[in-house]
Amino acid sequence: MLKLESLKKSYEQGSQKVDIFENLNFHVEVGQRVAIMGKSGSGKSTLLSLISGIIKPDSGDIILNSTSYKNLKESELNDFRATNIGFVFQNFHLVSYLNALENVMLPAKVCGISNPKEKAIELLKSVGLSHRLDHLPSQLSGGEKQRVAIARALIHNPKIILADEPSGNLDEETGIAVMDKLFELIEQNNTTLILVTHSKDVANRCEKTYELIHGNLALC
Ligand SMILES: Nc1ncnc2c1ncn2[C@@H]1O[C@H](COP(=O)(O)OP(=O)(O)O)[C@@H](O)[C@H]1O
Ligand SMILES: [Mg+2]
Repeated sequence: MLKLESLKKSYEQGSQKVDIFENLNFHVEVGQRVAIMGKSGSGKSTLLSLISGIIKPDSGDIILNSTSYKNLKESELNDFRATNIGFVFQNFHLVSYLNALENVMLPAKVCGISNPKEKAIELLKSVGLSHRLDHLPSQLSGGEKQRVAIARALIHNPKIILADEPSGNLDEETGIAVMDKLFELIEQNNTTLILVTHSKDVANRCEKTYELIHGNLALC
């Protein structure tokens, strides 16, 4: 379902070239939940950015649902991402001037999904936020913001969810509640999950855990 083939990615840092991936190969099946662990700076966020197509590899290819990124134009890749991928970030990344309902509806509008409002209300209800529809992000707690972000990531029924330390900024109890919700919803939809986390407990909820080390993914 997701294949990374001979990925190479380096960054320019001043006059230096820093290699993040030299020859990364990886494979995730449909509906699989995969945790990625690894030290800060090991390239976890870079990996998710490559999978999402937000950044391009220096060479190699990413294939999601038989679509090779190499063959897509920029605009096609943007459309492909909007339709197929959902994101949950550590810092929520909600739009500050949109209320909870509008934030959740945003990806649905980009994809042209019909009745986005109904679906958004349903999702916000399922994450326990039906009483917070018209609250702005600044009027929500951290856990509530992350639950809005989860609803937003799922509104367009993406094939895959990329989550970058989604409970990293939450206290333990809130983090567990948020992860419970995320796992419940992706199981209902058989959504594939790639989850970056520093927590062994969170990783244990996934079928496979890999450690990103020296640019390779080692099965734990
Ligand atoms: N846009 C960039 N330009 C230059 N270096 C970068 C850029 N993004 C990330 N890096 C570097 O790449 C390495 C991996 O970063 P990142 O993928 O964010 O790691 P992680 O998410 O595992 O902490 C780090 O050393 C970081 O400083
Ligand atoms: Mg990171």
